Amino acid sequence: MRCPAGDARIFGVNSSALPDQHPLATGLTADSRLVRALRGDRPETLPVWFMRQAGRSLPEYRELRVGTKMLDACLTPDLASEITLQPVRRHGVDAGIFFSDIVVPIKLAGVSVDIVPGRGPVLETPIRTAADVAALRPLDDEALAPIAAGVAQTVAELGSTPLIGFAGAPFTLAAYLVEGGPSKDHIRARTLMHSDPDTWEALLTWAADVTGAFLRAQVLAGASAAQLFDSWVGSLSLADYTANVAPHSARALSHVADLGVPRIHFGVGSGEVLTAMRDVGVDAMGVDWRIPLDEASRRLGGGTPLQGNIDPALLQAPWPVLEAHVRDVVERGRAAPAHVLNLGHGVNPDTDPDVLSRIVELAHTL
Ligand code: CP3
Repeated sequence: MRCPAGDARIFGVNSSALPDQHPLATGLTADSRLVRALRGDRPETLPVWFMRQAGRSLPEYRELRVGTKMLDACLTPDLASEITLQPVRRHGVDAGIFFSDIVVPIKLAGVSVDIVPGRGPVLETPIRTAADVAALRPLDDEALAPIAAGVAQTVAELGSTPLIGFAGAPFTLAAYLVEGGPSKDHIRARTLMHSDPDTWEALLTWAADVTGAFLRAQVLAGASAAQLFDSWVGSLSLADYTANVAPHSARALSHVADLGVPRIHFGVGSGEVLTAMRDVGVDAMGVDWRIPLDEASRRLGGGTPLQGNIDPALLQAPWPVLEAHVRDVVERGRAAPAHVLNLGHGVNPDTDPDVLSRIVELAHTL
């Protein structure tokens, strides 16, 4: 499935299946810097937001989260909404990203998963056999009501600032489901791919539909862009990615294809698979810090809007060092048709939030 960059223009917002009051359909966010850049335009001011901008780097987040578990916060619309808005108010970023987690739809589908602080998602029982996969249940739309409510509430507050909806890609979800928790090279998941291809196929198809439904719920409720995180894609060969993973990512994205919102695809260590990731059907590519944006654009053939790729490690460096790096990222980003400034991966919890605000200020003058 290959959708050329910028095909959102062909769909147009009016011919899409978005609800009439959706901020893209009413025009409220259609001319925002973020949406324009993702569609291949270069607005006068460079748009910027940060992956994991909501979270532990913010004292107001830590305060709000006291006594509430991560996944409970995600499923409480008032909390999810307030946490989403915190970094938008504080930093003046050009987008909010809905506060949730890639494992939320898996939990809503009935899988027993928890997020352990300092570790990440952990399953009570890993999913490893044909019988384990056969026992997985589909996610019904009613279970997504708290997500839709949280998004709607957030979008009402954000006004003309677009909200990004997101979901985990089937491979990254499978990396947690099969391993039962965070792992280094995702060996068990990659073994299953080859040792039991039918079970792999069934598991990734289930994951694609669950995560696709989660993404669709956010877009229908008002998100103006959609980002698919395939964070752990860097552990795959291009051959394995193309044959055993890409079709499932395309299936996940097909859940929002009729809605005409710009789609972003991001992975860590994705240099080998960058073009194959673009070709599953997205409008823009998120790039990690390992390849400069001019090189990423060259690999993609020069026609794909890019997002990224400040090295998160430099957030701790002295400001003149970081500033020179940000300017270099922006300069190299000019090789692409359009650029959304971001990090190469998420904000670290020990990042000084004032540094993020300072990057936004700088970006808006470049
Ligand atoms: O602001 C935003 O970017 C939106 C929020 C967001 C979270 N998770 C909140 C969160 C997003 C987009 C995610 C996606 C996510 N979750 C990914 C893909 C993006 C990436 O970082 O690669 C992945 C791989 C996960 C799985 C996950 N959830 C991990 C590895 C962790 C960290 C565990 C830890 O404590 O270090 C989580 C938990 C999580 N998700 C937190 C937040 C704010 C921390 C929980 C806390 O505050 O206690």
